[in-house]
Amino acid sequence: MVMDKMVFFNESLLPIPIYLEELIERFDIPIQNRPSPAWELCWTGQKLQFHNRELKLHPLYGDFLLPWKRAPLGKNDLFAKAMGYRKGIRKVIDATAGLGQDTARLLRLGCSVEAIEKNKILYCLLFEAQERAKQNILWKEKVSPRLHLIYGDAISLLPQIKPDRNQAIFLDPMFPEKNKSALSGGEMQLLKKWQVQCEKEEDLIAAPKLLLDSAFLGGHKRIILKRPLHTVSDNLTEISPHIVYRGKSVRYDVWLEK
Ligand SMILES: C[S@@+](CC[C@H](N)C(=O)[O-])C[C@H]1O[C@@H](n2cnc3c(N)ncnc32)[C@H](O)[C@@H]1O
Repeated sequence: MVMDKMVFFNESLLPIPIYLEELIERFDIPIQNRPSPAWELCWTGQKLQFHNRELKLHPLYGDFLLPWKRAPLGKNDLFAKAMGYRKGIRKVIDATAGLGQDTARLLRLGCSVEAIEKNKILYCLLFEAQERAKQNILWKEKVSPRLHLIYGDAISLLPQIKPDRNQAIFLDPMFPEKNKSALSGGEMQLLKKWQVQCEKEEDLIAAPKLLLDSAFLGGHKRIILKRPLHTVSDNLTEISPHIVYRGKSVRYDVWLEK
């Protein structure tokens, strides 16, 4: 991972929280006492955000409370249906947690979530977002116990997780750049640009197939792949999805194991 190209900067005049000090130490993130012109993990005093001043795109940060500021998801919502909520799924392994937006939706649905993220910076953003969300006492007591963040590579972790009929595996990997429909605004563009810094292009292209293969290897009962609605690369697996839920810009391919 290209950690030498990014720095941590505390833009507030306040000391940083202890958990943040621990994350910076754990991931050996270089600290800088002035703003960086390029990739920067920045503590604003209110939240941790990641940005690149050169790119002039909206900074990345997590917000686990967001789904509570919107209308609740119903059990007939496409996302809920794809997850298998009506079939009794109440535990989801979000194997590609990213900024935690889908994790937050799953929590809002009432599911327990194991959220796996392999990128150190994204994991730091998720961790801080959980700490920030815990400032809301109700969320801290009722929701936070259902969220477990894991720093690691889902490709090696998924085969080790015990399959369970009430548990689903959710995959939302990056798809190749040309799939513009996969972008959901400036945040996703910045996320993609950061991923390109961190990984070889061939590894990024191979990721969706490798993730799917490792979920199959684990014998999981319900595997959901979120992908752009119009994808050309349909040869991820020889096994066709058992159910396909189509939305306006995304689709959810679902494989079921008897
Ligand atoms: C498109 S983003 C996911 C966005 C996420 N669903 C959300 O709602 O914010 C893909 C994320 O998956 C992560 N990722 C890709 N491969 C992974 C793997 N093998 N294990 C864990 N995380 C992975 C990437 O680092 C990236 O943060």
